Amino acid sequence: MQEGRVAGAGPADYMRGMSETEHSAPLLPILIYPEPVLRKVARPITPADADEVRRLVPSMFATMYRAPGIGLAANQVGSLLRVIVVDVAPKEQPTPIALINPEIIARSDETATQEEGCLSIPDQYAEVTRPARVKVRYHDVAGIKQEIEAEGLLAACLQHEIDHLNGVLFVDYLSALKRNMLLRKLAKAQKR
Ligand code: NI
Repeated sequence: MQEGRVAGAGPADYMRGMSETEHSAPLLPILIYPEPVLRKVARPITPADADEVRRLVPSMFATMYRAPGIGLAANQVGSLLRVIVVDVAPKEQPTPIALINPEIIARSDETATQEEGCLSIPDQYAEVTRPARVKVRYHDVAGIKQEIEAEGLLAACLQHEIDHLNGVLFVDYLSALKRNMLLRKLAKAQKR
């Protein structure tokens, strides 16, 4: 997810909170709409994918921080493994979370509306309404089962990134009119 228009970490922040090996992780190109892989459903990660996940996750963090963004899904860098990375914390207190095979196991009835953007739909923003709170089950990079209860920006970000793994984009929540306007603006900006 691309951060709102006002806030934003500088490119120099992309290594915050990362270990030494992660500092040197190669950046990956972020694929831009309408790249077909953004519409594909990613597949669950199995133990056989461990090596690829170990390579992929540090590069996804580096790529996300560099963008800068607050969330990134594997589809956006051309991988169809079910992994997302997020960090919605202020840059003084980096809180990187990598979620393997994330699954929303509970959603609040209450909804919340936030302005969302997406690194694959750069510089286009729209208000999206989603459940205000979610509970997400996932495996961490050590393979340990975890659960996270999220609200506010983290809840929106987790839902946005898990949507990516299912080929769903934030523009899908907009009216056809709004979506077409936004995607036309994107196409125009990409031509420049
Ligand atoms: Ni996105």
